Amino acid sequence: MASISNFLLIFFATLFITSESRVVRAPFRPNSLVLPVHKDTATGLHVANIRKSTPQVLVPFLVDLNGNFLWVVCDQNYSSSSYNAPFCHSTQCSRAGDHYCHKCHSAARPGCHNNTCAVLTINPLTHRYTVGELAQDVVSFQSMQGSKMAQIATIPNFLFACAPSSLLQGPFPKSGQGVAGLGHAPVALPLQLASHFGFPQQFSLCLSSSTNTSGGIFFGNAPYKLATGFNNISKSMAYTPLSIGPQAEYFILVKSIKINNKTVPFNTSLLSGTRGFGGTLISTTTPYTVLEHSIFKTFVSFFIEQFVGVPQEESVPPFGLCFNSNLPPTHVGGYPNIDFVMQNRNVSWTILGVDSLVNARPNVSCLAFVDGGLNTRASIVIGAYHLEDHLLHFDLSNSKVGFSSLRKSHPVNCANFNFTSALTPEEDRMRD
Ligand SMILES: *[C@@H]1O[C@H](CO)[C@@H](O)[C@H](O)[C@H]1NC(C)=O
Ligand SMILES: *[C@@H]1O[C@H](CO)[C@@H](O)[C@H](O)[C@H]1NC(C)=O
Ligand SMILES: *[C@@H]1O[C@H](CO)[C@@H](O)[C@H](O)[C@H]1NC(C)=O
Ligand SMILES: *[C@@H]1O[C@H](CO)[C@@H](O)[C@H](O)[C@H]1NC(C)=O
Ligand SMILES: *[C@@H]1O[C@H](CO)[C@@H](O)[C@H](O)[C@H]1NC(C)=O
Ligand SMILES: *[C@@H]1O[C@H](CO)[C@@H](O)[C@H](O)[C@H]1NC(C)=O
Ligand SMILES: *[C@@H]1O[C@H](CO)[C@@H](O)[C@H](O)[C@H]1NC(C)=O
Ligand SMILES: *[C@@H]1O[C@H](CO)[C@@H](O)[C@H](O)[C@H]1NC(C)=O
Ligand SMILES: *[C@@H]1O[C@H](CO)[C@@H](O)[C@H](O)[C@H]1NC(C)=O
Repeated sequence: MASISNFLLIFFATLFITSESRVVRAPFRPNSLVLPVHKDTATGLHVANIRKSTPQVLVPFLVDLNGNFLWVVCDQNYSSSSYNAPFCHSTQCSRAGDHYCHKCHSAARPGCHNNTCAVLTINPLTHRYTVGELAQDVVSFQSMQGSKMAQIATIPNFLFACAPSSLLQGPFPKSGQGVAGLGHAPVALPLQLASHFGFPQQFSLCLSSSTNTSGGIFFGNAPYKLATGFNNISKSMAYTPLSIGPQAEYFILVKSIKINNKTVPFNTSLLSGTRGFGGTLISTTTPYTVLEHSIFKTFVSFFIEQFVGVPQEESVPPFGLCFNSNLPPTHVGGYPNIDFVMQNRNVSWTILGVDSLVNARPNVSCLAFVDGGLNTRASIVIGAYHLEDHLLHFDLSNSKVGFSSLRKSHPVNCANFNFTSALTPEEDRMRD
C-alpha cells in the first residue's frame, strides 16, 4: 500500500513539475473538488477516504453533515512529518473558535502537547465527547473541471482535531478513523475549503444507495451534470430555505406530510422551527428518518389506512411498522408515495413508494421510519436512507438547499457519477 501511494505521489509530483516548467507558474485554483463516498455495509452509514499526512495515507472518515470539523484518532497510529499543533491564542485557534489551552501529561506525540488549543470532539453516533488537540496537516482532494476529474489539489495546513481512539465507539463503520464534518462552521470542510481555494460557499451531496458503487461530496460548483451524456439537472432541482442550528447543523422547514397526496392529520405546530428544537434536521449519521413520537403514531396509522389489504408482521427493530412483503392479490394501488411539503405545495420532498419501505427480513418489509420518542432533537430528522440517490445542493451563501430525486426525474442515480479516474487502485480496494 505504502509503495503504491509513494509511487502516486512521485507520479503526481512529476506531472506537476513537467507541466509547470512549460506553463506560467500560477497557484492552482480549482473551482470544485470531489470526495468519493461509499456506503458501509454493516451500518448503512457513509464513509469518505481522505488523502492525508506525509507520507500520504488514505484515511476513512464517517461523513457527518452536521459535524463542526474533521477529527481523526491520532494517539496510536498517526505518523506524519507534516503534523503540527498551533499554540493556544493563535489565529488558527481563534479561527476554529477555540480559546482553551491544552495540557498533556504523557510523552509528546500527535494529540499530546502543552499550550496547544483544546477542542471538544464529539462522536455523533454515541454523543460522547472528549477533549482533543487542534492540529494542522497536509490534506489532498481530487479537483474537477466540469464533470471530468482534474489534478489533485493540496492544502498544506488543513485544520482538524486530533482525538483519542476511545472516541470511536458505537455503531461506527469498522474502518472509520474519525469524522468528516460538513456543518456550517468555519473549519468544517465546506467553509475551510471554500476559504482556502476562494470558490463559492456551497457543496453538494450525492450518496449512493448501493454498497457497490461510490457516491460523492462535491465542494464548490454543483455537479448538475452527473456524467457526460446526461442532462443538466439544475432545472429539476427544488430549493427551500436553509436555517442553521446553534451547533452549526442544517435545518429546513417541512410544513406538512402527505401520504398518497392526503395530508397526515397531526398538530403541525410541532414542525415549526424554533432554532435548534423542532423543525426538520437533515442528518447523515441517522440511518433512517426519525419522527417525534406523536407524529410517528399518527403517521403510522395513516399509512396503514393507505396501504389496505397488506398483512402486518411483527415489527423488526428499530422500525415500528412492518408488512409481509409479498403483496397479496387483494391489495390495489401499489406502495403509497410520501411527500414532505415545504414552503408551498409545489416544493416537496417526495419519497417514492418503494423507498418508503425497507427489507428488514426475508419476506418482511418495514416502513423506513423510526419513532424518536418525546424529546427528540428535532421533530423530523431526515436520515441517510432517504438522502440516498438524491442530489442535495447546500448553497450556504444564499441560505438555501436544493434537492432533486434522481430516481423520480432522471434515469440516473448517484452511482452514475464517473469516478473512474478519481479512484486510485488503493482507494478501490479500500471500498467494501
Ligand atoms: C494501529 O495499528 C495496529 C497495527 O497495524 C492495529 O492493530 C491497531 O488496531 C491500530 N489502532 C487503531 C486505533 O487503529
Ligand atoms: C507538559 O508540562 C508538564 C509540566 O507542566 C510536563 O510534566 C509534561 O511532560 C508536559 N507535556 C508534554 C507533552 O510536553
Ligand atoms: C454488489 O456486489 C455483489 C458481489 O459482486 C453482488 O452479489 C450484489 O448483488 C451487489 N449488490 C448490489 C446492490 O448491486
Ligand atoms: C447547468 O445549468 C446551470 C443553470 O441553469 C448552469 O449554471 C450550469 O453551468 C449548467 N451546468 C452544466 C454542466 O452545463
Ligand atoms: C395531488 O394533489 C394536487 C392538488 O392538491 C394535484 O394537483 C395533484 O395532481 C395530485 N397528485 C396526484 C398524484 O394525485
Ligand atoms: C397544537 O400544539 C400547540 C402547542 O403544543 C397547542 O398550543 C395547540 O393548541 C395545538 N393545536 C391543536 C389543534 O391541537
Ligand atoms: C405552483 O406551480 C403552479 C404550476 O407550475 C403555478 O401556477 C403556481 O403559481 C405555483 N404556486 C406557488 C405557490 O408557487
Ligand atoms: C418467503 O415467501 C415465499 C413465498 O411465499 C416462500 O416460498 C418462502 O419460504 C418465504 N421465505 C421465508 C424465509 O419465510
Ligand atoms: C469514465 O471516465 C473514464 C476516464 O475518463 C473513461 O475512460 C470511461 O469511459 C468513462 N465511463 C463512462 C461510463 O462514462
